[in-house]
Amino acid sequence: MSVSVPTRAPSRETGGESPWDSQHEEFDYEIDDIEGQIPSSLRGVLFRIGPGRFEIGGHPMTHIFDGDGMVSRFDISPDRIHYRNRYVRTRSFKRANETQLPPKGFNTQRVGGPLANALKFPENLSNTSVLVHDDVLYTLWEGGRPHRLDAETLETYGSESFDGALKRIGAFSAHPKVDPNTGDVFNFGLDFFPRPMIRCYRLDKSKRLHNVGTVPIPKLGFVHDFALTERHLVFVLGPLVVSRPIPVALGMRPFGEALSYKPELGTTIVLVPRDGGKATRIETDSLFHFHVANAYEAGPETVVDIVAHDATGGWAQWNNYLCNFRDKAGPAFGGTLTRLRINRNTEAVVRDPLNELGCEFPQVDPRLVTTAHRYAYLAEASVRGGDPDSITTVDTTTGAQDRYTTPGNTVCEPLFAEDPENPGEGRGWLLSLEHRPSDKRSRLIVLNAERPSAGPVAIATLRHHVPMTFHGAYKAATSE
Ligand SMILES: [Fe+2]
Repeated sequence: MSVSVPTRAPSRETGGESPWDSQHEEFDYEIDDIEGQIPSSLRGVLFRIGPGRFEIGGHPMTHIFDGDGMVSRFDISPDRIHYRNRYVRTRSFKRANETQLPPKGFNTQRVGGPLANALKFPENLSNTSVLVHDDVLYTLWEGGRPHRLDAETLETYGSESFDGALKRIGAFSAHPKVDPNTGDVFNFGLDFFPRPMIRCYRLDKSKRLHNVGTVPIPKLGFVHDFALTERHLVFVLGPLVVSRPIPVALGMRPFGEALSYKPELGTTIVLVPRDGGKATRIETDSLFHFHVANAYEAGPETVVDIVAHDATGGWAQWNNYLCNFRDKAGPAFGGTLTRLRINRNTEAVVRDPLNELGCEFPQVDPRLVTTAHRYAYLAEASVRGGDPDSITTVDTTTGAQDRYTTPGNTVCEPLFAEDPENPGEGRGWLLSLEHRPSDKRSRLIVLNAERPSAGPVAIATLRHHVPMTFHGAYKAATSE
């Protein structure tokens, strides 16, 4: 696979800048450029995280996954918004600062050739998502332990093992699910010793991590997200598997090239009971996806909404796009919101595309995680193969769509913030960051979740840009 790696961000067709340009500075200020009216009941903190820098010492990171994690924090109240950003002080970040050399990443190799890369696992960049639990902020990276940060100052305290419960590499995925009924957090981590397996966890409100189950999997592969219902953790294990480990282990090729998409292997759906009972496996046709919107039980069926992607070009083509993220968006935002109906009795799996949109980063009202949802919220690319330029609310019961589109700009994952004065599904706001290449500034936008097409009710423009973020969390302020 050939990968061209520019040493600086090239121009994009949509404007003069890339939404992935690095932001090396750390800021701390009151936002003074606010348009519209922040809703009177919108009080809370929005965290966003993603790779913050894609080069160091003149050396580029060569994959969209490989930038050091940078957290943005927006403290929101009706009369003000405060912004702060900090890099996560991972071991990798500190070493890169000292050496001015890039970390070993998913595709980025350490300087020094095979000898410098042999038997080296990608470094924990803590750049993928966050979890706010019991007023502690954790930054997440699926191949290793979380990092624990002060949720207000964003000071990094260190990596977190939950009193030793996360052993060895301590993988703790970037997509934990919070049960809104219990406050428990469910998550998983991949392990490969002594054989490939998924370790399932429950983090209780006292921050104790419990092992819910360990599920052997037939082949070590890429498992980025999972679903949670009232009874199960649900894994949709597509056929993106490790097939070429030797040249990677010898340091000759990057980690991302160990993977292959093998549709002939099909997809294995694993239902792991939350109470620790025996897991159920159901085989179905191949499926390529990264993210889950939500899941729930409906009689004998387990319903899972995911964003399915076309993988006919194989993983090499996908990975090439992800390596060339500076140049073009590629297919990353061209997924299809798809409903899987998994009959636990007959083991039949029916998949239904819910619409024709090209999208990614699906969200629902977090109060409905584990139960049936009506609305899904998407970052949509109005042009397939383009950057996401729309925030779209989809009514999954009627198919109705309502979108905010900002041509030439990019948006990211929309997070739902409930309106405490107006309860009910869908009553609240969507929070997203919009990147504007025209002035290279980013802005927090607040949309009415029921009608994003009305445009932002409030816009808070930063003094600078924030590189495209992957994920985040909104934590409503507790009433006094
Ligand atoms: Fe993700």
